[in-house]
Amino acid sequence: MRTVDLIQKKRDGHELAREEIQFLIEGYTKGEIPDYQMAAWAMAVFFRGMSARETADLTLAMAASGDMLDLSPILGIKTDKHSTGGVGDTVTLVLAPLAASAGVPVAKMSGRGLGHTGGTIDKLESIPGFSTEMSPEDFIRQVNTHGVAVIGQSGNITPADKKLYSLRDVTGTVNSIPLIASSIMSKKIAAGADAIVLDVKTGSGAFMKTLEDSIRLAEAMVSIGTETGRETVAVITDMEEPLGTAVGNALEVRLAVETLQGKGPADLVETCLTLGSHMLVLGVKADSAEEAKDILKSKLSSGEALAKFKEFVAAQGGDPAVGDDPNLLQVSSRHVTVPAPRGGYVGHITAEEIGLAAMELGAGRETKESVIDLSVGVQLLRKTGDAVQEGEGLAVLYAKEGQSQEALDRIAKRVQNAYLLQDEAPEHRKLVHAVIS
Ligand code: URA
Repeated sequence: MRTVDLIQKKRDGHELAREEIQFLIEGYTKGEIPDYQMAAWAMAVFFRGMSARETADLTLAMAASGDMLDLSPILGIKTDKHSTGGVGDTVTLVLAPLAASAGVPVAKMSGRGLGHTGGTIDKLESIPGFSTEMSPEDFIRQVNTHGVAVIGQSGNITPADKKLYSLRDVTGTVNSIPLIASSIMSKKIAAGADAIVLDVKTGSGAFMKTLEDSIRLAEAMVSIGTETGRETVAVITDMEEPLGTAVGNALEVRLAVETLQGKGPADLVETCLTLGSHMLVLGVKADSAEEAKDILKSKLSSGEALAKFKEFVAAQGGDPAVGDDPNLLQVSSRHVTVPAPRGGYVGHITAEEIGLAAMELGAGRETKESVIDLSVGVQLLRKTGDAVQEGEGLAVLYAKEGQSQEALDRIAKRVQNAYLLQDEAPEHRKLVHAVIS
Protein backbone atom coordinates (compact mmCIF):
# COMPACT_ATOMS: atom_id res chain seq x y z
CA MET A 1 0.00 0.00 0.00
CA ARG A 2 1.23 3.51 -0.77
CA THR A 3 0.14 6.52 1.28
CA VAL A 4 -0.05 8.73 -1.79
CA ASP A 5 -2.62 6.40 -3.38
CA LEU A 6 -4.81 6.59 -0.28
CA ILE A 7 -4.58 10.40 -0.23
CA GLN A 8 -5.63 10.48 -3.88
CA LYS A 9 -8.43 7.98 -3.31
CA LYS A 10 -9.92 10.17 -0.56
CA ARG A 11 -9.23 13.35 -2.55
CA ASP A 12 -11.31 11.90 -5.38
CA GLY A 13 -14.20 11.14 -3.01
CA HIS A 14 -13.89 7.36 -2.62
CA GLU A 15 -14.39 5.30 0.50
CA LEU A 16 -11.28 3.83 2.15
CA ALA A 17 -11.32 0.20 3.27
CA ARG A 18 -10.76 -0.68 6.94
CA GLU A 19 -7.25 -2.02 6.17
CA GLU A 20 -6.36 1.20 4.35
CA ILE A 21 -7.43 3.31 7.34
CA GLN A 22 -5.47 1.04 9.68
CA PHE A 23 -2.42 1.34 7.40
CA LEU A 24 -2.58 5.16 7.62
CA ILE A 25 -3.09 5.29 11.38
CA GLU A 26 -0.45 2.68 12.18
CA GLY A 27 2.07 4.23 9.76
CA TYR A 28 1.50 7.72 11.12
CA THR A 29 1.77 6.57 14.76
CA LYS A 30 5.08 4.81 14.07
CA GLY A 31 6.45 7.86 12.25
CA GLU A 32 6.62 6.03 8.91
CA ILE A 33 4.09 8.39 7.33
CA PRO A 34 5.25 12.02 7.58
CA ASP A 35 3.19 14.98 8.79
CA TYR A 36 2.88 16.44 5.29
CA GLN A 37 1.19 13.33 3.90
CA MET A 38 -1.13 12.99 6.89
CA ALA A 39 -2.02 16.68 6.58
CA ALA A 40 -2.89 16.18 2.91
CA TRP A 41 -5.07 13.19 3.82
CA ALA A 42 -6.80 15.16 6.62
CA MET A 43 -7.53 17.95 4.14
CA ALA A 44 -8.99 15.40 1.70
CA VAL A 45 -11.23 14.11 4.53
CA PHE A 46 -12.17 17.68 5.38
CA PHE A 47 -13.53 18.22 1.86
CA ARG A 48 -14.79 14.73 1.03
CA GLY A 49 -16.04 13.52 4.44
CA MET A 50 -16.21 9.89 5.53
CA SER A 51 -18.99 7.33 5.63
CA ALA A 52 -20.29 6.11 9.01
CA ARG A 53 -18.34 2.89 8.47
CA GLU A 54 -15.08 4.74 7.70
CA THR A 55 -15.57 6.99 10.76
CA ALA A 56 -16.09 3.97 13.03
CA ASP A 57 -13.00 2.26 11.54
CA LEU A 58 -10.93 5.41 12.03
CA THR A 59 -12.12 5.68 15.64
CA LEU A 60 -11.24 2.08 16.44
CA ALA A 61 -7.87 2.30 14.66
CA MET A 62 -6.97 5.39 16.71
CA ALA A 63 -8.24 3.85 19.97
CA ALA A 64 -6.07 0.78 19.25
CA SER A 65 -2.99 2.86 18.36
CA GLY A 66 -1.81 2.72 22.00
CA ASP A 67 -2.78 1.39 25.40
CA MET A 68 -6.43 0.80 26.26
CA LEU A 69 -7.19 1.47 29.92
CA ASP A 70 -9.08 -1.15 31.85
CA LEU A 71 -11.04 0.74 34.49
CA SER A 72 -12.82 -2.34 35.83
CA PRO A 73 -10.93 -2.08 39.18
CA ILE A 74 -12.84 1.19 39.75
CA LEU A 75 -16.11 0.52 41.54
CA GLY A 76 -19.33 1.95 40.09
CA ILE A 77 -20.30 3.23 36.66
CA LYS A 78 -17.47 5.41 35.39
CA THR A 79 -19.11 8.30 33.61
CA ASP A 80 -17.13 10.67 31.45
CA LYS A 81 -18.01 14.07 30.01
CA HIS A 82 -16.35 15.48 26.93
CA SER A 83 -16.82 18.76 25.11
CA THR A 84 -16.33 19.25 21.40
CA GLY A 85 -14.56 22.49 22.30
CA GLY A 86 -15.61 26.04 22.96
CA VAL A 87 -14.53 29.45 24.19
CA GLY A 88 -14.58 29.90 27.97
CA ASP A 89 -15.60 26.26 28.33
CA THR A 90 -14.67 25.87 32.00
CA VAL A 91 -17.24 23.12 32.52
CA THR A 92 -14.90 20.20 33.35
CA LEU A 93 -13.19 22.13 36.14
CA VAL A 94 -16.54 22.59 37.85
CA LEU A 95 -18.31 19.42 36.79
CA ALA A 96 -15.63 16.79 37.51
CA PRO A 97 -15.57 17.54 41.28
CA LEU A 98 -19.29 18.35 41.33
CA ALA A 99 -20.31 14.97 39.83
CA ALA A 100 -17.74 13.20 42.03
CA SER A 101 -19.22 14.88 45.13
CA ALA A 102 -22.56 13.30 44.13
CA GLY A 103 -20.98 9.84 44.01
CA VAL A 104 -20.24 9.41 40.29
CA PRO A 105 -16.68 8.13 39.78
CA VAL A 106 -15.02 10.53 37.31
CA ALA A 107 -11.99 9.05 35.51
CA LYS A 108 -11.35 11.61 32.85
CA MET A 109 -8.80 12.06 30.10
CA SER A 110 -8.71 15.62 28.75
CA GLY A 111 -6.95 17.48 25.98
CA ARG A 112 -5.01 20.68 25.39
CA GLY A 113 -6.27 23.78 23.58
CA LEU A 114 -7.13 23.34 19.91
CA GLY A 115 -7.48 26.25 17.48
CA HIS A 116 -9.38 29.11 19.10
CA THR A 117 -10.74 26.84 21.86
CA GLY A 118 -9.14 26.14 25.22
CA GLY A 119 -8.21 22.77 26.73
CA THR A 120 -8.70 21.45 30.26
CA ILE A 121 -5.12 20.22 30.63
CA ASP A 122 -3.67 23.68 29.90
CA LYS A 123 -6.13 25.19 32.38
CA LEU A 124 -5.31 22.72 35.16
CA GLU A 125 -1.60 23.38 34.68
CA SER A 126 -2.18 26.97 35.79
CA ILE A 127 -2.77 25.62 39.32
CA PRO A 128 0.65 25.72 41.03
CA GLY A 129 2.09 22.19 41.28
CA PHE A 130 -0.80 20.45 39.49
CA SER A 131 0.27 17.44 37.42
CA THR A 132 -1.85 15.78 34.75
CA GLU A 133 0.58 12.92 34.16
CA MET A 134 0.25 9.70 36.10
CA SER A 135 0.44 5.97 35.53
CA PRO A 136 -2.77 4.04 34.83
CA GLU A 137 -2.36 2.36 38.26
CA ASP A 138 -2.19 5.73 40.06
CA PHE A 139 -5.10 7.03 37.97
CA ILE A 140 -7.28 4.10 39.07
CA ARG A 141 -6.10 4.39 42.68
CA GLN A 142 -6.93 8.10 42.76
CA VAL A 143 -10.47 7.57 41.44
CA ASN A 144 -11.06 4.81 43.98
CA THR A 145 -9.73 6.99 46.81
CA HIS A 146 -10.92 10.47 45.85
CA GLY A 147 -13.68 9.83 43.29
CA VAL A 148 -12.08 11.96 40.59
CA ALA A 149 -8.91 12.15 38.49
CA VAL A 150 -8.12 14.06 35.28
CA ILE A 151 -5.15 13.10 33.13
CA GLY A 152 -3.75 14.33 29.85
CA GLN A 153 -3.24 12.15 26.84
CA SER A 154 0.01 11.11 28.44
CA GLY A 155 1.68 7.78 28.31
CA ASN A 156 0.69 5.76 25.34
CA ILE A 157 -3.06 6.40 25.10
CA THR A 158 -4.34 7.16 21.58
CA PRO A 159 -0.93 8.35 20.32
CA ALA A 160 -2.43 8.54 16.82
CA ASP A 161 -5.01 11.09 17.93
CA LYS A 162 -2.41 13.00 19.91
CA LYS A 163 -0.31 13.50 16.74
CA LEU A 164 -3.23 14.06 14.42
CA TYR A 165 -4.93 16.49 16.82
CA SER A 166 -1.94 18.84 16.91
CA LEU A 167 -1.41 18.46 13.15
CA ARG A 168 -5.06 19.39 12.45
CA ASP A 169 -4.75 22.37 14.76
CA VAL A 170 -2.18 23.99 12.44
CA THR A 171 -3.41 22.79 9.05
CA GLY A 172 -7.00 24.08 8.98
CA THR A 173 -8.51 20.62 9.33
CA VAL A 174 -10.21 20.83 12.71
CA ASN A 175 -13.85 21.44 11.73
CA SER A 176 -14.58 18.10 10.15
CA ILE A 177 -17.36 15.89 11.54
CA PRO A 178 -15.59 12.50 11.03
CA LEU A 179 -12.26 13.86 12.34
CA ILE A 180 -13.80 15.40 15.48
CA ALA A 181 -16.09 12.41 16.13
CA SER A 182 -13.24 9.89 15.79
CA SER A 183 -10.82 12.04 17.80
CA ILE A 184 -13.18 12.34 20.76
CA MET A 185 -14.62 8.84 20.69
CA SER A 186 -11.23 7.11 20.24
CA LYS A 187 -10.06 8.76 23.48
CA LYS A 188 -13.25 7.85 25.29
CA ILE A 189 -13.03 4.23 24.15
CA ALA A 190 -9.33 3.92 25.04
CA ALA A 191 -9.82 5.67 28.38
CA GLY A 192 -12.32 3.04 29.42
CA ALA A 193 -15.42 4.94 30.62
CA ASP A 194 -18.67 2.95 30.88
CA ALA A 195 -20.95 5.86 30.02
CA ILE A 196 -20.27 9.11 28.18
CA VAL A 197 -21.97 12.51 28.23
CA LEU A 198 -20.97 14.56 25.21
CA ASP A 199 -21.24 18.34 25.28
CA VAL A 200 -21.62 19.20 21.61
CA LYS A 201 -21.16 22.93 21.25
CA THR A 202 -23.00 24.87 18.57
CA GLY A 203 -22.56 28.45 17.36
CA SER A 204 -19.88 30.97 16.45
CA GLY A 205 -17.36 29.74 19.04
CA ALA A 206 -17.83 26.05 18.28
CA PHE A 207 -16.20 23.98 15.56
CA MET A 208 -19.73 23.28 14.32
CA LYS A 209 -21.36 26.64 13.63
CA THR A 210 -24.88 25.48 12.75
CA LEU A 211 -27.36 23.44 14.76
CA GLU A 212 -27.74 21.10 11.79
CA ASP A 213 -23.99 20.26 11.72
CA SER A 214 -23.89 19.94 15.51
CA ILE A 215 -26.74 17.43 15.40
CA ARG A 216 -24.90 15.46 12.68
CA LEU A 217 -21.73 15.42 14.82
CA ALA A 218 -23.73 14.38 17.91
CA GLU A 219 -25.44 11.57 16.01
CA ALA A 220 -22.09 10.32 14.64
CA MET A 221 -20.59 10.15 18.14
CA VAL A 222 -23.64 8.62 19.81
CA SER A 223 -23.73 5.91 17.16
CA ILE A 224 -20.00 5.09 17.69
CA GLY A 225 -20.61 4.98 21.47
CA THR A 226 -23.58 2.68 21.14
CA GLU A 227 -21.76 0.36 18.73
CA THR A 228 -18.84 0.02 21.13
CA GLY A 229 -21.04 -0.72 24.16
CA ARG A 230 -20.76 2.68 25.87
CA GLU A 231 -24.03 4.31 26.84
CA THR A 232 -23.71 7.74 25.26
CA VAL A 233 -25.83 10.89 25.49
CA ALA A 234 -25.07 14.08 23.56
CA VAL A 235 -26.33 17.45 24.79
CA ILE A 236 -26.14 20.26 22.26
CA THR A 237 -25.30 23.45 24.16
CA ASP A 238 -24.94 27.01 23.00
CA MET A 239 -21.56 28.48 22.05
CA GLU A 240 -22.76 31.53 20.16
CA GLU A 241 -21.11 33.74 22.80
CA PRO A 242 -18.33 32.60 25.17
CA LEU A 243 -19.54 30.54 28.13
CA GLY A 244 -19.16 32.34 31.45
CA THR A 245 -16.97 35.43 31.77
CA ALA A 246 -13.39 34.19 31.45
CA VAL A 247 -11.33 33.08 28.45
CA GLY A 248 -7.76 32.03 29.19
CA ASN A 249 -6.22 29.41 31.43
CA ALA A 250 -5.70 30.85 34.95
CA LEU A 251 -8.70 33.16 34.42
CA GLU A 252 -10.93 30.15 33.75
CA VAL A 253 -9.69 28.23 36.79
CA ARG A 254 -10.42 31.33 38.87
CA LEU A 255 -13.96 31.41 37.49
CA ALA A 256 -14.41 27.68 38.10
CA VAL A 257 -13.47 28.15 41.76
CA GLU A 258 -15.87 31.08 42.07
CA THR A 259 -18.58 28.88 40.52
CA LEU A 260 -17.89 26.10 43.02
CA GLN A 261 -18.08 28.77 45.74
CA GLY A 262 -21.64 29.48 44.53
CA LYS A 263 -20.77 32.73 42.71
CA GLY A 264 -20.72 31.47 39.12
CA PRO A 265 -22.31 33.13 36.07
CA ALA A 266 -25.80 31.80 35.25
CA ASP A 267 -24.93 30.28 31.84
CA LEU A 268 -21.93 28.33 33.17
CA VAL A 269 -23.89 27.09 36.20
CA GLU A 270 -26.85 25.99 34.07
CA THR A 271 -24.61 24.19 31.54
CA CYS A 272 -22.82 22.32 34.37
CA LEU A 273 -26.12 21.34 36.02
CA THR A 274 -27.61 20.09 32.74
CA LEU A 275 -24.58 18.01 31.74
CA GLY A 276 -24.11 16.84 35.32
CA SER A 277 -27.71 15.71 35.56
CA HIS A 278 -27.13 13.35 32.60
CA MET A 279 -23.95 12.05 34.28
CA LEU A 280 -25.89 11.26 37.46
CA VAL A 281 -28.69 9.50 35.57
CA LEU A 282 -26.20 7.42 33.51
CA GLY A 283 -24.22 6.71 36.69
CA VAL A 284 -27.45 5.54 38.38
CA LYS A 285 -27.23 8.15 41.14
CA ALA A 286 -30.62 9.69 40.23
CA ASP A 287 -33.78 8.47 38.51
CA SER A 288 -34.51 11.62 36.56
CA ALA A 289 -32.71 14.71 35.29
CA GLU A 290 -34.80 16.87 37.67
CA GLU A 291 -33.84 14.82 40.72
CA ALA A 292 -30.20 14.86 39.57
CA LYS A 293 -30.22 18.66 39.23
CA ASP A 294 -31.54 19.03 42.78
CA ILE A 295 -28.77 16.79 44.09
CA LEU A 296 -26.12 18.79 42.22
CA LYS A 297 -27.51 22.12 43.44
CA SER A 298 -27.36 20.88 47.03
CA LYS A 299 -23.72 19.76 46.53
CA LEU A 300 -22.87 23.26 45.32
CA SER A 301 -24.66 25.10 48.10
CA SER A 302 -23.37 22.81 50.88
CA GLY A 303 -19.74 23.36 49.81
CA GLU A 304 -19.23 19.62 49.19
CA ALA A 305 -18.38 20.20 45.51
CA LEU A 306 -15.77 22.82 46.45
CA ALA A 307 -14.31 20.50 49.10
CA LYS A 308 -14.07 17.76 46.45
CA PHE A 309 -12.28 20.20 44.11
CA LYS A 310 -9.66 20.92 46.78
CA GLU A 311 -9.24 17.21 47.49
CA PHE A 312 -8.82 16.54 43.75
CA VAL A 313 -6.28 19.37 43.33
CA ALA A 314 -4.25 18.17 46.32
CA ALA A 315 -4.33 14.55 45.06
CA GLN A 316 -2.73 15.68 41.79
CA GLY A 317 0.02 17.71 43.49
CA GLY A 318 -1.66 21.12 43.20
CA ASP A 319 -2.11 23.76 45.88
CA PRO A 320 -5.63 23.24 47.31
CA ALA A 321 -5.53 26.77 48.77
CA VAL A 322 -6.65 28.06 45.33
CA GLY A 323 -10.06 26.66 46.28
CA ASP A 324 -10.26 29.19 49.14
CA ASP A 325 -8.45 32.04 47.44
CA PRO A 326 -8.57 31.92 43.62
CA ASN A 327 -6.38 35.04 43.59
CA LEU A 328 -3.46 32.69 44.27
CA LEU A 329 -3.67 31.78 40.57
CA GLN A 330 -1.21 33.70 38.47
CA VAL A 331 -3.10 36.21 36.35
CA SER A 332 -0.99 38.78 34.48
CA SER A 333 -0.76 42.17 36.19
CA ARG A 334 -0.71 43.95 32.81
CA HIS A 335 -4.32 44.62 31.87
CA VAL A 336 -6.26 46.93 29.60
CA THR A 337 -9.99 47.65 29.56
CA VAL A 338 -11.80 47.59 26.21
CA PRO A 339 -14.41 50.39 26.21
CA ALA A 340 -17.85 50.37 24.55
CA PRO A 341 -17.74 52.62 21.45
CA ARG A 342 -21.44 53.51 21.99
CA GLY A 343 -24.20 52.93 24.53
CA GLY A 344 -26.97 50.35 24.19
CA TYR A 345 -27.44 46.64 24.74
CA VAL A 346 -25.03 43.84 23.88
CA GLY A 347 -26.89 42.07 21.06
CA HIS A 348 -24.26 39.42 20.37
CA ILE A 349 -20.62 38.52 21.14
CA THR A 350 -18.83 36.54 18.43
CA ALA A 351 -17.25 33.80 20.52
CA GLU A 352 -14.69 32.76 17.92
CA GLU A 353 -13.27 36.30 17.77
CA ILE A 354 -12.88 36.36 21.56
CA GLY A 355 -11.17 32.95 21.38
CA LEU A 356 -8.81 34.19 18.68
CA ALA A 357 -8.07 37.36 20.69
CA ALA A 358 -7.16 35.19 23.72
CA MET A 359 -4.95 33.12 21.44
CA GLU A 360 -3.20 36.27 20.14
CA LEU A 361 -2.61 37.31 23.74
CA GLY A 362 -0.75 34.01 24.13
CA ALA A 363 -3.39 31.79 25.78
CA GLY A 364 -3.57 29.39 22.80
CA ARG A 365 -1.15 27.84 20.30
CA GLU A 366 -0.40 29.37 16.90
CA THR A 367 1.77 26.38 15.91
CA LYS A 368 2.33 22.87 17.26
CA GLU A 369 5.44 24.07 19.09
CA SER A 370 4.02 27.33 20.57
CA VAL A 371 4.52 27.79 24.28
CA ILE A 372 1.40 29.27 25.83
CA ASP A 373 1.13 31.80 28.66
CA LEU A 374 -1.24 30.58 31.35
CA SER A 375 -1.65 34.04 32.92
CA VAL A 376 -3.20 35.87 29.94
CA GLY A 377 -6.67 36.04 28.43
CA VAL A 378 -9.90 37.99 28.19
CA GLN A 379 -12.31 38.73 31.03
CA LEU A 380 -15.79 39.62 29.80
CA LEU A 381 -17.42 42.46 31.76
CA ARG A 382 -20.59 42.43 29.65
CA LYS A 383 -22.53 39.48 28.19
CA THR A 384 -25.36 39.32 25.68
CA GLY A 385 -28.41 41.21 26.93
CA ASP A 386 -26.43 43.50 29.26
CA ALA A 387 -26.83 47.28 29.01
CA VAL A 388 -23.72 49.45 28.61
CA GLN A 389 -23.00 53.19 28.43
CA GLU A 390 -20.53 54.63 25.93
CA GLY A 391 -16.98 54.37 27.35
CA GLU A 392 -17.85 51.73 29.97
CA GLY A 393 -15.85 48.51 29.88
CA LEU A 394 -16.88 45.60 27.66
CA ALA A 395 -13.95 43.38 28.57
CA VAL A 396 -10.49 43.38 30.15
CA LEU A 397 -7.45 42.01 28.32
CA TYR A 398 -4.73 40.38 30.43
CA ALA A 399 -1.50 40.57 28.43
CA LYS A 400 2.07 39.42 28.85
CA GLU A 401 4.75 41.96 29.63
CA GLY A 402 6.53 41.47 26.31
CA GLN A 403 3.48 42.10 24.10
CA SER A 404 3.89 45.23 21.95
CA GLN A 405 1.48 48.12 22.43
CA GLU A 406 0.63 47.89 18.72
CA ALA A 407 -0.41 44.23 19.07
CA LEU A 408 -2.39 45.01 22.21
CA ASP A 409 -4.26 47.85 20.45
CA ARG A 410 -5.09 45.47 17.56
CA ILE A 411 -6.37 42.78 19.93
CA ALA A 412 -8.44 45.36 21.85
CA LYS A 413 -10.03 46.42 18.54
CA ARG A 414 -10.74 42.79 17.72
CA VAL A 415 -12.54 42.29 21.05
CA GLN A 416 -14.44 45.56 20.63
CA ASN A 417 -15.56 44.48 17.15
CA ALA A 418 -16.68 41.09 18.51
CA TYR A 419 -19.37 42.94 20.47
CA LEU A 420 -22.51 43.92 18.57
CA LEU A 421 -24.10 46.89 20.37
CA GLN A 422 -27.71 47.76 19.56
CA ASP A 423 -30.61 49.92 20.78
CA GLU A 424 -32.98 47.09 21.69
CA ALA A 425 -32.44 44.30 24.21
CA PRO A 426 -31.90 41.06 22.20
CA GLU A 427 -34.12 38.00 22.43
CA HIS A 428 -33.01 35.38 24.92
CA ARG A 429 -31.10 32.49 23.28
CA LYS A 430 -31.56 28.92 24.41
CA LEU A 431 -28.65 27.37 26.33
CA VAL A 432 -29.57 23.74 25.62
CA HIS A 433 -30.71 23.12 22.04
CA ALA A 434 -31.24 19.34 21.94
CA VAL A 435 -30.43 16.07 23.64
CA ILE A 436 -29.52 13.06 21.46
CA SER A 437 -29.28 9.54 22.80
N1 URA B 1 -11.95 17.75 20.89
C1 URA B 1 -11.23 16.63 20.59
O1 URA B 1 -10.86 15.85 21.46
N2 URA B 1 -10.96 16.40 19.29
C2 URA B 1 -11.37 17.22 18.31
O2 URA B 1 -11.11 16.95 17.17
C3 URA B 1 -12.10 18.39 18.64
C4 URA B 1 -12.38 18.63 19.94
